[in-house]
Amino acid sequence: MSQAAAGASGLPRHVAVIMDGNGRWAQRRALPRHLGHRAGAKAVRATVEGCARRGVEALTIFAFSSENWQRPPDEVTRLMELFVESIDREVDELHRNGICVRFIGDLSRLRAELGAKIAAAEARTAANRRMTLFIAVSYGGRWDIVEAARRLAARVVAGEIKAEAIDEALFADQLQLAGAPEPDLFIRTGGEQRISNFLLWHLAYTEPYFCDTLWPDFDDAELERRLGEHRREPVAQVVSRSHRRVAPGPDPGAQPCPAVVGG
Ligand code: IPE
Ligand code: IPE
Ligand code: MG
Repeated sequence: MSQAAAGASGLPRHVAVIMDGNGRWAQRRALPRHLGHRAGAKAVRATVEGCARRGVEALTIFAFSSENWQRPPDEVTRLMELFVESIDREVDELHRNGICVRFIGDLSRLRAELGAKIAAAEARTAANRRMTLFIAVSYGGRWDIVEAARRLAARVVAGEIKAEAIDEALFADQLQLAGAPEPDLFIRTGGEQRISNFLLWHLAYTEPYFCDTLWPDFDDAELERRLGEHRREPVAQVVSRSHRRVAPGPDPGAQPCPAVVGG
């Protein structure tokens, strides 16, 4: 399905997901939390494939927040190892499936080995057009907004733009997801009903869906149910679309993989 057709059929163009509940999934099985994170990493595949197969244009998944750096050092270390391992294991398949992979977040805080894997995965999949998978690592919505403000301030100081020229469109172009359509559907698993510093700017008109399912149990059937319900909510879509900055794009064949600002 083309991107324009996806939007017109009620299928979201961009789905954003907080993959929460991995630690509790393990604890309920009397397993250590890190095995829950491992199960969560495996579960990502079903949602990526499910979204790509149905014609979703972009999927953004929250893998590690700015605040997650404050978790116990052992958990942080294991999560970083899991990211390296997951990139090694998944990139071939993602590439074969035509997925463009982009990482958003403060990647300067990551270990050099992980940074190198990220750069290689992005370069390898850059030309893919079927769907863009944005992986938010060391990401915080507040960080994203502050970085954008800092960049614009530097351009004002350098005399490149006038302060009065800064509007919502120019500001959004400085954010990490610049160029991607705004998310139409936001899913949070794990039972908590909060944003946890995810895409603060971008979720302004996004339809939220909170579910109790723990992320490792979130499967294609649940994704299908949610996408189906989203399709049946035309009024919400019309209201939401009337506030959109980004118009539906042309055919995916013509769309470049959006470049990440500062990435
Ligand atoms: C979310 O799962 C993923 C990461 C933050 C890495 P959690 O680790 O927050 O799992 P719960 O919420 O404690 O169950
Ligand atoms: C949000 O989950 C971040 C990720 C899923 C990466 P958290 O578990 O970190 O959020 P809080 O602490 O419950 O708000
Ligand atoms: Mg959590």
